[in-house]
Amino acid sequence: MCGIVGGVAQRNIVPILLEGLKRLEYRGYDSAGLAVINNQTLFRKRELGKVKGLEALLQVDPIFGPIGIAHTRWATHGKPSTENAHPHVSSNKVAVVHNGIIENHEPLRGALIDEGYLFTSETDTEVIVHQLYQTMEHTQGFLKAVKLMVKKLEGAYALGIICTEEPDTLIACRKGSPLVIGVGIGEYFIASDVAALLPVTQRFIFLEEGDIASISIDKLIIYDANDEVVTRPVKESQLTADSVDKGDYRHYMLKEIYEQPFAISQALEGRFINNRLQENCFGHKAAEVFDTIKSIQILACGTSYHAGLVARYWFERLARVPCNIEVASEFRYRNPVLAENTLIVTISQSGETADTLAALQEAKRLGAKYSLAICNVPESSLVRESDLVLMTRAGPEIGVASTKAFTTQLTALMLLVIAVGRRFELTEAMEQKISSDLFKLPRKIEAVLKLDDQIKVLAEQFAEKEHALFLGRGSHYPIAMEGALKLKEISYIHAEAYPAGELKHGPLALIDSEMPVITVAPNNSLLEKLKSNIQEVSARGGQLIVFMDETLASAASENVQIIKVPQVENEISPIIYTIPLQLLSYYVAVLKGTDVDQPRNLAKSVTVE
Ligand code: AGP
Repeated sequence: MCGIVGGVAQRNIVPILLEGLKRLEYRGYDSAGLAVINNQTLFRKRELGKVKGLEALLQVDPIFGPIGIAHTRWATHGKPSTENAHPHVSSNKVAVVHNGIIENHEPLRGALIDEGYLFTSETDTEVIVHQLYQTMEHTQGFLKAVKLMVKKLEGAYALGIICTEEPDTLIACRKGSPLVIGVGIGEYFIASDVAALLPVTQRFIFLEEGDIASISIDKLIIYDANDEVVTRPVKESQLTADSVDKGDYRHYMLKEIYEQPFAISQALEGRFINNRLQENCFGHKAAEVFDTIKSIQILACGTSYHAGLVARYWFERLARVPCNIEVASEFRYRNPVLAENTLIVTISQSGETADTLAALQEAKRLGAKYSLAICNVPESSLVRESDLVLMTRAGPEIGVASTKAFTTQLTALMLLVIAVGRRFELTEAMEQKISSDLFKLPRKIEAVLKLDDQIKVLAEQFAEKEHALFLGRGSHYPIAMEGALKLKEISYIHAEAYPAGELKHGPLALIDSEMPVITVAPNNSLLEKLKSNIQEVSARGGQLIVFMDETLASAASENVQIIKVPQVENEISPIIYTIPLQLLSYYVAVLKGTDVDQPRNLAKSVTVE
């Protein structure tokens, strides 16, 4: 999704902007650009494609300046092109970068065209810059004009704006899209997330909804949504510039797959005493909230939704807690009925997913009293807008394909099952058993990661395939869904997941010798049923790849390959079976030569609807 970097410094800002853009690449984008002011003149460079293309352009034709804004664009309005890339400018005096969507751009554009403004792009963003220029014609001062201009905008925006008439001032606005201010020594920066600014500062101010910041070298003034001057706290980030490095790994995704044992140990760290969960890890109001609630409603998107699907099995099977789950983008428009005393549980790696945030708002509008966020980004909007929070502590996840964020979400969700389940039918003995199993996870995952070489070889069978089916049952059906999503998003192979029992109701027609069928087969009460489903595929010549518990007798044959997965306790086994599917997608994508960490058309943090 679009990324913003900007700054006012006592040095040439261009290398800082370029480094910031590179650090935002993981969000997904199609073009990049920057603008600086030097001696009251605006200079701009834009390029379709990667930041390195923009960098090359700047090497040939450099620009310099102490104040500037930069952007990676993820196309929403208008195709990826240099003309549509940000910054957008008006009369070569005002430049703007934007993350979000201006919903009323069409009427604004029409009115501006009538006034003679010439549009050079198809973007919604260009209306902002012309609207601002038009406002400045009748208004004293850059800041005042920005404040008036944003009142005309409907939709979501994070903005960085510079203007040649006040060449020392950078203005930042936030409404519906995240924006942070980096506090340097005698300089300030802005960015869509902290990762962009870690080489220059670890001190950050997180702008809140409706904030407008006027930033110069020696002065930062923040106005809130009511136009009052406010002081926002400066927070020290624990992250360093190195924490988002790839190290010796070929891709972030592989690094993040391998980080899972550590990430899960972090997710558990300090949250148990003697195998008893300390529920204050959800926040100081946790006990009060958990005592009240009668059911759970989970809201999330994509991989986070899959984590929620697994949790529904856990909530209901282990603790008899009624649990619903819905894709956030559907929930927000369905006008659903919420039972009284339902705890809204949102799950999001980024905490900035527009659909999930909107679904939470909708749940509140429908009367939900309590919300809990499972999230990986501490200062994110979702965290700020929820009553209770459980941080997943996965560490920064850069690959667009979620890996360690997913398995730490599952870990965190199991903690929630314990905390809520205690008030239902989860006994102390069950809690002790689940806790001790959770603490075994890091070692178990290390053992599963040893399948790496075997899976690398397996991946070779996929390089030429166009379709794949994933099967699972019970709490492993969402793991099959997650396996299919991973394969789709990074290898571009069409993949579908089915509950194995559903196969005979339609998808069996797809089975032939060209169709790989990946099956998740842990040793649990559904295994015998699953074996019958495997037979149905095998009898029709389907190419089965079965991830199976190592303790089970295997029945490999010409069209059935068995991959033995280390034996694992029943409840935590969905977490374990995720790992080989992640590795499989990764190695297939590597063989296909796709852009593993930034797959086409996708964004890491989906901040627009
Ligand atoms: C996962 O691999 C995807 N990139 C995507 O489905 C993601 O999980 C989804 O967009 C939700 O993101 P969030 O967890 O940041 O809310």
